[in-house]
Amino acid sequence: MACAAQRKIVVVDNAAALAQAAARRLVERVKGKDRAAVCLTGGSSPQGLYSLLADAPWRDAVPWHRVHWFIGDDRFVPESDPLSNMGQARRAFLDRVDAPRGNVHAMPTDANYPEGAARLYEDELKAFYGADTLDPARPLFDLVLMGLGGDGHTASLFPGSRALEEKTRWVLGIAKAGMEPFVPRVTLTFPALASTREMLFLIDSGDKRDILRRVLDGEDLPARRAHADGELVWLVVRAAAPH
Ligand code: 6PG
Repeated sequence: MACAAQRKIVVVDNAAALAQAAARRLVERVKGKDRAAVCLTGGSSPQGLYSLLADAPWRDAVPWHRVHWFIGDDRFVPESDPLSNMGQARRAFLDRVDAPRGNVHAMPTDANYPEGAARLYEDELKAFYGADTLDPARPLFDLVLMGLGGDGHTASLFPGSRALEEKTRWVLGIAKAGMEPFVPRVTLTFPALASTREMLFLIDSGDKRDILRRVLDGEDLPARRAHADGELVWLVVRAAAPH
């Protein structure tokens, strides 16, 4: 694996500025490419960004026909369920813009069980990538969005989970979530998430101040383990930023 990139912390004034900065970075990453891939995240942190993407001017800045949308983790519920991360992204922007249906790659949460969905999604990612092994010189994604949970989890990689150690698989079923909502999950693993030109953490609220401090102090929390073959950027509102 390539040497993990150094973490860059970008502090912005508030959640509105965070959404604008994230939109700018997303457009930068996808523009001018024949085919781009963005891995979305769930939770409340990306919602400001998703709303911006649904309307002008950002809507007009995204080459929708050339961008493919994946999800870093999802809850094992139908997309129509309010808990579904991809369902949320669809309602917030993907269904409201010119994104071709085939460009939206949801996890097949209608599979029999989470591990089955994980295997199917891994196959889909490999088919999209065109190989079974990730090459750090040719990342799978152009941008991976990430959130930070109150217990230090990211995607559905929870503290103490064996999934944190996964080195080979790209996607795993998680039978027991470590935090609410307590529904089974399907998550990309650290090696798959790392295969990106940019990993962008979104920390949009002062409530994350303590857990962010613990991550930055070097505590062995899942979010601390996240790394990227390309740039690793933490976009943080001032209220959550350490001194
Ligand atoms: C999920 C997420 C998860 C999220 C964090 C932060 O499915 O729950 O993908 O990893 O990003 O829990 O959530 P908030 O943005 O709501 O604080």
